[in-house]
Amino acid sequence: MSVLDDRASFLGSKVVYQIYVRSFCDSDGDGIGDLPGITSKLDYLADLGVDYLWITPFYPSPQNDNGYDVADYCAIDPLFGTMDDFDQLAAQADARGIGLMLDMVFNHTSTSHEWFQRALAGDPKYLAYYKFVDAAPDATADDPGEPPTNWESKFGGNAWEYVPALNKWYLHLFDVSQADLDWDNPEVRAELGKVLRFWQRKGVSSFRFDVVNLVSKPAGWPSDDTDGKHFYSDGPRIHEYLQDMVRRGGIDGLLTVGEMSATSLDSCIRYTNPESHELAMVFNFHHLKVDYPDGEKWELMEPDIDVLRDLYRTWQEKMTAGGGWNSLFWSNHDQPRPNSRFGDTVNYWYESSTLLPTCTHLMRGTPYIYQGEELGQTITDFTSIEQYRDVESHNYYRIIQERGHTPEEAFKIVHARSRDDGRYPMAWDGSKTGRFTSGTPWLALPANHAWINAEAEMADPHSVRAYYQRLIALRKELPVVQAGDVRFLDAASDKVIAYERKLDDVRVLVQCNFSGEEQPALACADGELLIGNYDDPGEAGVLRPWEAVAHIWR
Ligand code: GLC
Repeated sequence: MSVLDDRASFLGSKVVYQIYVRSFCDSDGDGIGDLPGITSKLDYLADLGVDYLWITPFYPSPQNDNGYDVADYCAIDPLFGTMDDFDQLAAQADARGIGLMLDMVFNHTSTSHEWFQRALAGDPKYLAYYKFVDAAPDATADDPGEPPTNWESKFGGNAWEYVPALNKWYLHLFDVSQADLDWDNPEVRAELGKVLRFWQRKGVSSFRFDVVNLVSKPAGWPSDDTDGKHFYSDGPRIHEYLQDMVRRGGIDGLLTVGEMSATSLDSCIRYTNPESHELAMVFNFHHLKVDYPDGEKWELMEPDIDVLRDLYRTWQEKMTAGGGWNSLFWSNHDQPRPNSRFGDTVNYWYESSTLLPTCTHLMRGTPYIYQGEELGQTITDFTSIEQYRDVESHNYYRIIQERGHTPEEAFKIVHARSRDDGRYPMAWDGSKTGRFTSGTPWLALPANHAWINAEAEMADPHSVRAYYQRLIALRKELPVVQAGDVRFLDAASDKVIAYERKLDDVRVLVQCNFSGEEQPALACADGELLIGNYDDPGEAGVLRPWEAVAHIWR
């Protein structure tokens, strides 16, 4: 077997489940999920059939960006538990054959991190850990002058903050409390390598790297008439730095994933081809922008299925041809719930909640399930901006109005786009707090959790959850799903996405109708039904509303 085949059978047989720790399960009644809460639900996860748990950051943090502002990479925030709780979780997961994937936020630290605090105190060693740039000699707190570049922060506003005591600016591509580390400094890379080794000694076998393609910034601080992201996304020394991190951290060959912001196909092939010794797979987000008019997240439009199909075709076929590896996902803690967004949860909640995973889980790559997705959880039913907690939602509620929208329009956009849409707590049952907590949940659950919840769905063999369980089991059973070639087909309708997987003499055909109307199907009458989201086979040659169906020839 070639290196690529070996990798396909390793990565292609795994399914990752993402846990947003503050919203998964609360063991101590403070309304915020925690590590013992996760441990208490391991049987639920083992029963679903997943292999790895990606757990979002639980390290000490002021929580300005819900833990993505890390103040200490090698400790546990008391909000989420203790190191003993972590060790318990790791041991109990391991006993069930489940690995832990930890979230490494290495582009920036919290400004509360000791390194940044020492930098603020003027220590040159730590000033060199961050992107500090001298301000003009006559700069003052009231009039600091122009920042070094006009780059925009991802959370709105300019990406530089002036520090009067130092007469310097520092770069923050995210919140002002998230200062970008200087990866050009080898001492920084050495520190981060140590963090990876620390967690591996605790039994961690997998890592997710937050916005890791942003870590190499260009020399000379260029500006132009854009928001600046093309200067530092897939930046000039990114491959060298990833290889260095992999070597220092001793993580080559592990199941790793890099979150790649505004990336390119060619870069992602390089990030994930085993010959590069960088990462096992990447998250790219192009397919989650097919409902952004002109690339603008904070405006609404219907998803463009033609563009979606083209993106899948390109990324599936070309990553395979280039020896790369994809992750497969519709949602995470930064995305609104995909069934509300790409489907029709009013008229076809079950069908659209099962069509989406049918479409991706049978592709070539490694599927990710974001907590609650397997229940068909929808977006929130919030009616006012005060109910939201996310820093980005509040910033953009204001910015959208500054751009000329009324408060009602701004609310409608935030309601459809907020990261809190995917962040509200997991519904374990239909009671008031969904048995997520015995206290008051940090973010309210929508009323529909009365019927969209784990308890109800575990008792129902036709539930969305049971469907996910079958999809996961199919991946484990079928080498064609793990390692087969992939080819996109020209479906008979522009609302349908269809593709074929092939391994030796086995062929799988997947067809998904992304619409509430009947659409023509490709011929598959002589194939054996593998999985489908309608109970009866229906009429030959027709896909019903939001029908997803896969056939196999073997
Ligand atoms: C990633 C995380 C997101 C966070 C950002 C900054 O995109 O997924 O939640 O806000 O990085 O760390």
